[in-house]
Amino acid sequence: MLELSGVDKSFHLPDTGRVMVLNQVGFFLEAGTTLAITGHSGSGKTTLLSLIAGLDIPDAGTIRVNGIDICTLDEAALTRYRAASISMIFQSFHLMPHLTAAENIALPLEILRQDRIQERTQSLLEQVGLTHRAGHLPGQLSGGECQRVAIARALIVEPALILADEPTGNLDTDTGKKVADLLFNLVETRRKTLVVVTHNQDLAARCRETKILSRGNLA
Ligand SMILES: Nc1ncnc2c1ncn2[C@@H]1O[C@H](COP(=O)(O)OP(=O)(O)OP(=O)(O)O)[C@@H](O)[C@H]1O
Ligand SMILES: [Mg+2]
Repeated sequence: MLELSGVDKSFHLPDTGRVMVLNQVGFFLEAGTTLAITGHSGSGKTTLLSLIAGLDIPDAGTIRVNGIDICTLDEAALTRYRAASISMIFQSFHLMPHLTAAENIALPLEILRQDRIQERTQSLLEQVGLTHRAGHLPGQLSGGECQRVAIARALIVEPALILADEPTGNLDTDTGKKVADLLFNLVETRRKTLVVVTHNQDLAARCRETKILSRGNLA
Protein backbone atom coordinates (compact mmCIF):
# COMPACT_ATOMS: atom_id res chain seq x y z
CA MET A 1 0.00 0.00 0.00
CA LEU A 2 2.69 2.48 1.07
CA GLU A 3 6.36 1.96 0.35
CA LEU A 4 9.13 4.49 0.94
CA SER A 5 12.65 3.83 -0.14
CA GLY A 6 15.81 5.93 0.23
CA VAL A 7 13.89 9.12 0.95
CA ASP A 8 16.08 12.17 1.62
CA LYS A 9 14.82 15.62 2.45
CA SER A 10 16.80 18.69 3.40
CA PHE A 11 15.98 22.37 3.62
CA HIS A 12 18.25 25.20 2.59
CA LEU A 13 18.26 28.33 4.67
CA PRO A 14 20.31 31.41 3.78
CA ASP A 15 21.92 31.81 7.22
CA THR A 16 22.12 28.29 8.64
CA GLY A 17 22.80 26.50 5.35
CA ARG A 18 21.52 23.02 4.56
CA VAL A 19 19.55 21.11 7.19
CA MET A 20 19.22 17.40 6.52
CA VAL A 21 15.86 16.35 7.97
CA LEU A 22 15.27 12.90 6.45
CA ASN A 23 18.16 10.65 5.53
CA GLN A 24 17.46 7.43 3.59
CA VAL A 25 14.06 6.84 5.14
CA GLY A 26 12.43 3.61 4.06
CA PHE A 27 9.48 1.57 5.25
CA PHE A 28 6.66 -0.58 4.00
CA LEU A 29 3.08 -0.52 5.17
CA GLU A 30 0.39 -3.02 4.26
CA ALA A 31 -3.15 -1.94 3.42
CA GLY A 32 -5.41 -1.75 6.45
CA THR A 33 -2.55 -1.23 8.89
CA THR A 34 -2.27 1.59 11.42
CA LEU A 35 1.18 3.08 11.96
CA ALA A 36 2.28 5.63 14.55
CA ILE A 37 5.39 7.70 13.91
CA THR A 38 6.80 9.30 17.03
CA GLY A 39 9.95 11.32 17.60
CA HIS A 40 11.01 14.49 19.31
CA SER A 41 9.99 17.94 18.13
CA GLY A 42 11.87 18.87 14.98
CA SER A 43 12.74 15.26 14.10
CA GLY A 44 10.94 15.57 10.76
CA LYS A 45 7.57 13.93 11.37
CA THR A 46 5.48 16.61 9.65
CA THR A 47 8.04 16.80 6.85
CA LEU A 48 7.67 13.05 6.26
CA LEU A 49 3.87 13.27 6.25
CA SER A 50 3.95 16.18 3.77
CA LEU A 51 6.05 14.09 1.40
CA ILE A 52 3.63 11.15 1.59
CA ALA A 53 0.75 13.59 1.04
CA GLY A 54 2.43 14.89 -2.11
CA LEU A 55 2.57 18.40 -0.64
CA ASP A 56 6.35 18.49 -0.98
CA ILE A 57 8.89 16.47 -2.96
CA PRO A 58 11.88 14.55 -1.60
CA ASP A 59 15.44 15.27 -2.73
CA ALA A 60 15.92 11.57 -3.44
CA GLY A 61 14.07 8.29 -3.10
CA THR A 62 10.68 6.92 -4.04
CA ILE A 63 7.28 7.07 -2.36
CA ARG A 64 4.96 4.44 -3.74
CA VAL A 65 1.26 4.46 -2.95
CA ASN A 66 -0.58 1.48 -4.37
CA GLY A 67 2.38 0.83 -6.65
CA ILE A 68 2.58 4.34 -8.10
CA ASP A 69 5.62 6.50 -7.34
CA ILE A 70 3.95 9.80 -6.48
CA CYS A 71 7.26 11.65 -6.98
CA THR A 72 6.98 11.05 -10.72
CA LEU A 73 3.42 12.36 -11.11
CA ASP A 74 2.80 15.58 -13.02
CA GLU A 75 0.90 18.43 -11.35
CA ALA A 76 -2.52 17.29 -12.61
CA ALA A 77 -2.01 13.68 -11.52
CA LEU A 78 -0.68 14.85 -8.16
CA THR A 79 -3.75 17.01 -7.62
CA ARG A 80 -5.97 14.00 -8.37
CA TYR A 81 -3.91 11.88 -5.97
CA ARG A 82 -4.24 14.47 -3.20
CA ALA A 83 -7.97 14.83 -3.76
CA ALA A 84 -9.01 11.19 -4.13
CA SER A 85 -6.42 8.85 -2.63
CA ILE A 86 -5.37 10.48 0.62
CA SER A 87 -6.87 12.55 3.40
CA MET A 88 -5.08 14.63 5.99
CA ILE A 89 -6.13 15.35 9.56
CA PHE A 90 -4.24 18.16 11.31
CA GLN A 91 -3.66 19.21 14.91
CA SER A 92 -5.39 22.54 14.26
CA PHE A 93 -8.25 20.98 12.26
CA HIS A 94 -7.83 23.19 9.12
CA LEU A 95 -11.56 23.64 8.58
CA MET A 96 -12.93 26.34 6.29
CA PRO A 97 -14.09 29.02 8.77
CA HIS A 98 -16.90 30.37 6.56
CA LEU A 99 -18.42 26.94 5.85
CA THR A 100 -20.73 25.05 8.20
CA ALA A 101 -19.85 21.64 9.64
CA ALA A 102 -21.93 19.94 6.92
CA GLU A 103 -20.39 22.09 4.16
CA ASN A 104 -16.87 21.35 5.40
CA ILE A 105 -17.57 17.62 5.33
CA ALA A 106 -19.13 17.84 1.85
CA LEU A 107 -16.32 19.93 0.37
CA PRO A 108 -14.12 17.07 -0.94
CA LEU A 109 -17.17 15.60 -2.72
CA GLU A 110 -17.99 19.00 -4.24
CA ILE A 111 -14.41 19.35 -5.47
CA LEU A 112 -14.47 15.86 -6.99
CA ARG A 113 -17.97 16.52 -8.43
CA GLN A 114 -19.33 13.33 -6.92
CA ASP A 115 -22.97 12.40 -6.48
CA ARG A 116 -25.25 11.77 -3.47
CA ILE A 117 -23.42 14.57 -1.65
CA GLN A 118 -26.20 15.40 0.80
CA GLU A 119 -26.91 11.78 1.65
CA ARG A 120 -23.25 10.95 2.20
CA THR A 121 -22.68 14.09 4.27
CA GLN A 122 -25.65 13.27 6.52
CA SER A 123 -24.34 9.75 6.99
CA LEU A 124 -20.87 10.98 8.02
CA LEU A 125 -22.36 13.64 10.31
CA GLU A 126 -24.29 10.87 12.02
CA GLN A 127 -21.24 8.61 12.32
CA VAL A 128 -19.24 11.32 14.09
CA GLY A 129 -22.24 12.26 16.24
CA LEU A 130 -22.70 15.79 14.92
CA THR A 131 -26.09 15.76 13.20
CA HIS A 132 -27.29 18.39 15.67
CA ARG A 133 -24.34 20.66 14.78
CA ALA A 134 -24.65 20.42 10.99
CA GLY A 135 -25.35 24.14 10.53
CA HIS A 136 -22.68 25.43 12.91
CA LEU A 137 -19.59 27.25 11.69
CA PRO A 138 -16.21 26.01 13.05
CA GLY A 139 -16.07 29.06 15.33
CA GLN A 140 -19.30 27.86 16.93
CA LEU A 141 -17.95 24.37 17.63
CA SER A 142 -15.72 23.02 20.40
CA GLY A 143 -12.23 21.70 19.58
CA GLY A 144 -13.38 18.09 19.81
CA GLU A 145 -16.35 18.82 17.55
CA CYS A 146 -14.07 20.55 15.02
CA GLN A 147 -11.80 17.51 14.93
CA ARG A 148 -14.81 15.22 14.45
CA VAL A 149 -15.80 17.36 11.45
CA ALA A 150 -12.24 17.02 10.13
CA ILE A 151 -12.37 13.23 10.59
CA ALA A 152 -15.70 13.07 8.74
CA ARG A 153 -14.25 15.21 5.94
CA ALA A 154 -11.20 12.93 5.76
CA LEU A 155 -13.33 9.81 5.42
CA ILE A 156 -16.01 11.02 3.03
CA VAL A 157 -13.98 10.46 -0.16
CA GLU A 158 -13.13 6.91 0.97
CA PRO A 159 -9.38 7.53 0.65
CA ALA A 160 -7.03 4.56 0.62
CA LEU A 161 -4.68 6.31 3.02
CA ILE A 162 -5.34 8.64 5.93
CA LEU A 163 -2.54 10.80 7.28
CA ALA A 164 -2.96 12.44 10.67
CA ASP A 165 -0.54 14.96 12.20
CA GLU A 166 -1.03 15.21 15.98
CA PRO A 167 -4.81 14.78 15.60
CA THR A 168 -5.39 15.06 19.35
CA GLY A 169 -2.68 17.64 20.02
CA ASN A 170 -5.07 20.54 20.59
CA LEU A 171 -7.59 18.59 22.66
CA ASP A 172 -7.74 17.95 26.39
CA THR A 173 -6.98 14.38 27.51
CA ASP A 174 -10.60 13.25 27.74
CA THR A 175 -11.71 14.80 24.46
CA GLY A 176 -8.54 13.55 22.78
CA LYS A 177 -9.31 10.02 23.89
CA LYS A 178 -12.88 10.23 22.56
CA VAL A 179 -11.72 11.63 19.22
CA ALA A 180 -9.06 8.91 18.98
CA ASP A 181 -11.71 6.25 19.75
CA LEU A 182 -13.83 7.59 16.93
CA LEU A 183 -10.95 7.82 14.47
CA PHE A 184 -9.72 4.28 15.17
CA ASN A 185 -13.26 2.86 15.07
CA LEU A 186 -13.97 4.40 11.69
CA VAL A 187 -10.55 3.49 10.29
CA GLU A 188 -10.72 -0.11 11.50
CA THR A 189 -14.29 -0.83 10.41
CA ARG A 190 -13.51 0.54 6.94
CA ARG A 191 -10.09 -1.15 6.83
CA LYS A 192 -8.33 2.10 5.97
CA THR A 193 -4.59 2.54 6.18
CA LEU A 194 -3.66 5.16 8.75
CA VAL A 195 -0.37 6.92 9.47
CA VAL A 196 -0.46 8.99 12.65
CA VAL A 197 2.31 11.33 13.69
CA THR A 198 2.19 11.98 17.41
CA HIS A 199 4.02 12.76 20.64
CA ASN A 200 1.15 11.12 22.47
CA GLN A 201 2.13 7.65 23.69
CA ASP A 202 -1.49 6.61 24.31
CA LEU A 203 -2.38 7.40 20.73
CA ALA A 204 0.75 5.65 19.43
CA ALA A 205 -0.05 2.56 21.50
CA ARG A 206 -3.36 2.17 19.68
CA CYS A 207 -1.62 1.66 16.34
CA ARG A 208 -0.62 -1.78 15.16
CA GLU A 209 2.91 -0.58 14.38
CA THR A 210 5.08 2.14 15.88
CA LYS A 211 8.21 3.69 14.41
CA ILE A 212 10.47 6.32 15.90
CA LEU A 213 11.96 9.06 13.76
CA SER A 214 15.38 9.98 15.07
CA ARG A 215 18.40 11.63 13.42
CA GLY A 216 16.65 11.50 10.06
CA ASN A 217 15.96 7.78 10.25
CA LEU A 218 13.04 5.56 11.16
CA ALA A 219 13.64 2.83 13.71
N1 LIG B 1 10.06 24.79 5.00
C1 LIG B 1 11.10 24.61 5.81
N2 LIG B 1 12.23 25.34 5.66
C2 LIG B 1 13.29 25.14 6.46
N3 LIG B 1 13.34 24.25 7.46
C3 LIG B 1 12.24 23.50 7.67
C4 LIG B 1 11.06 23.65 6.87
N4 LIG B 1 10.14 22.77 7.31
C5 LIG B 1 10.71 22.12 8.35
N5 LIG B 1 11.96 22.55 8.57
C6 LIG B 1 12.90 22.05 9.59
O1 LIG B 1 12.90 20.65 9.51
C7 LIG B 1 12.95 20.06 10.80
C8 LIG B 1 11.79 19.09 10.97
O2 LIG B 1 10.56 19.81 11.01
P1 LIG B 1 9.17 19.07 11.19
O3 LIG B 1 8.12 20.11 11.18
O4 LIG B 1 9.07 17.99 10.20
O5 LIG B 1 9.35 18.45 12.65
P2 LIG B 1 8.31 17.64 13.55
O6 LIG B 1 8.95 16.34 13.89
O7 LIG B 1 6.98 17.60 12.86
O8 LIG B 1 8.23 18.55 14.86
P3 LIG B 1 6.99 18.80 15.85
O9 LIG B 1 6.88 17.58 16.70
O10 LIG B 1 7.42 19.97 16.65
O11 LIG B 1 5.78 19.08 15.04
C9 LIG B 1 12.95 21.21 11.79
O12 LIG B 1 14.27 21.42 12.20
C10 LIG B 1 12.45 22.38 10.99
O13 LIG B 1 13.00 23.58 11.43
MG1 LIG C 1 5.12 18.41 13.31
